[in-house]
This record gives sequence, structure tokens and C-alpha cells, in this order.
Amino acid sequence: MSKHLTHTKDLNKEEILQIFSMAREYLDEKKREDLKGKLIINIFFENSTRTRSSFEIAAKRLSADVVNLDVAKSSTSKGETLFDTAANLDAMGPDAIIVRHHRSGVPKILSKYVRASIINAGDGAHQHPTQGLLDLFTLIEVFGDLEGKKIAIVGDIRNSRVANSDIELLTRFKAKVLLVGPPHFLPKTPLPKTYSLKEAIEFADAIISLRTQTERHKHPTFASLKDYAQNFKITKELIKDKNIYIMHPGPVHRNIDIDDEVLADKRSLVLRQVKNGVAVRMAILKHLIREQ
Ligand code: NCD
Repeated sequence: MSKHLTHTKDLNKEEILQIFSMAREYLDEKKREDLKGKLIINIFFENSTRTRSSFEIAAKRLSADVVNLDVAKSSTSKGETLFDTAANLDAMGPDAIIVRHHRSGVPKILSKYVRASIINAGDGAHQHPTQGLLDLFTLIEVFGDLEGKKIAIVGDIRNSRVANSDIELLTRFKAKVLLVGPPHFLPKTPLPKTYSLKEAIEFADAIISLRTQTERHKHPTFASLKDYAQNFKITKELIKDKNIYIMHPGPVHRNIDIDDEVLADKRSLVLRQVKNGVAVRMAILKHLIREQ
């Protein structure tokens, strides 16, 4: 068993199912003492609303002590290397360090130098394993077995760490994955692809919509997000009365990725993902820390 979670592949299927059954127990828990006396450090070198607060709430619900490092105020801005920052934090004896960084591979490299469990909260366009796990958990919650279920991922897949984590997990759990977007948003992969959102909606049992990752584009890819929306916004008009679930990891570009009406529709799982995220992260923390 890996003590770190830097990539979805760090967990085998059995471990994932164990984490999910723990998460199911945690779903309606407000406070437990499972990680009492444990110390967790959150260090985010990139913006975050959901992920950081979700980890903090998860840790607090398990009674761990949590320190949120404000990177703008830390010594990294005084020129300390990332490794020295990590080594110094590690010397304070945390049980886990949760890291988000704009460079791919940073959590993996750090995991080689620290004693604490490193949990990747998103590294560049590479991986976002806890988001992938909470998406998988949410899909299993609505479908049960995912074998043969058709999941379309729509948007800036090439620049999305969420897509990478989702694709690895969904294919491992035998879902049929279709990638949807304009050609410059689609990665090189043997998975089926389409440029047609209409075709994807006809195919899919669930759609995962993704935000256009403008901060990762070297050149503007659309004149405006409105041009993107014309072809790839999920609307009520397109989904009609179809039995289909709509997901998004957030932050949603409202009325660009998904329209107001669909976001408010019963078939939208967006807020359920957020709720599940806390329970899944509680289970991940418990799984990684308890073995130490
Ligand atoms: C995502 C991220 O940061 O990778 N958000 C999240 O963690 N829920 C997706 C995004 O930024 O578009």
C-alpha cells in the first residue's frame, strides 16, 4: 500500500472500494475522533475554493489538527526552495501534507523527501486524484456498477488534470468513456472522440463538463468563451427529458459550460459531488494516515 496519493494509480481497486465504503459511512457524520492527535498541513501554491475547504472540513470532521499555510505569506515568497519549505514543514511532524502546485509532478517529487503522507490536491495539468475519486464515487452512487456505463467528458480535456484522473479511474472500472470538445482540446489517446455535443448527449448516461483552462493556454484558443459555449454548452434544449446525469468539478463557467436551467435541474449532480467530496476525502485521510 502506498502511503502517498499523488496519482490515481497509487490505489488499487480493492483499496478504492474500501475507501468508498468508509466514505459512505462518513456521508452524514458531523464529527468523529478517528484522527484525533494527527496533524495535517494544507499547502496550496495555486488557487482553490472547493478542494482546500473540502480537505480542511474532512480533516476537522475526523478531529485532526489542521494548519493552512498561506503560501503568499510563507518563505517561498522570500526565495526558499520548495524542498526546503517541505523539509521544514515535515520536521514539525505532520501526518499528511496536502499539496496543490501549478507544476506537474511536484507532489510526487516531494513524496520522496518527506516522512508525512503527501496528498496531491492537483498538480498542473497532470493529476487531481481526489477529484477523480469523488467523481467515481458519485457515479457509483447513482449507477451501482459502472461496467458498460457511458460517460462523456466535455471540454478542455487536454489541459485538465481532472480529466486525466477521471479517465484513468473510469476506464479501470470498465465504463465506456467518450471525449468531447474542439480538436485543440482533445488529447492524443486511443479513446473514442467526437466534436459533436449532440452526439455525445445521445450516447451518454452521464456527462462530466469541464471548465476551459484559460490559465494553461499559451495562445488564446477561442475568440471568447461565448464562441466555445455555442458548440459545447450543455443546455436544457439539448438534454431534453433524457435520463442523463450532469457533473462538473467546479468552478463552473455558468452559461458557458452548463446553462442555469440544467444546473438547477434534478439531473445535475454538481452539488452532490461537493458533498461527496468531503466524505471521500475523510476516507482517504483515514486510509493513508491510520497505517503510519
Ligand atoms: C479543478 C481543479 O482545480 O483542477 N477544480 C477542482 O479542484 N474542483 C478544475 C478546474 O479548475 O477547472
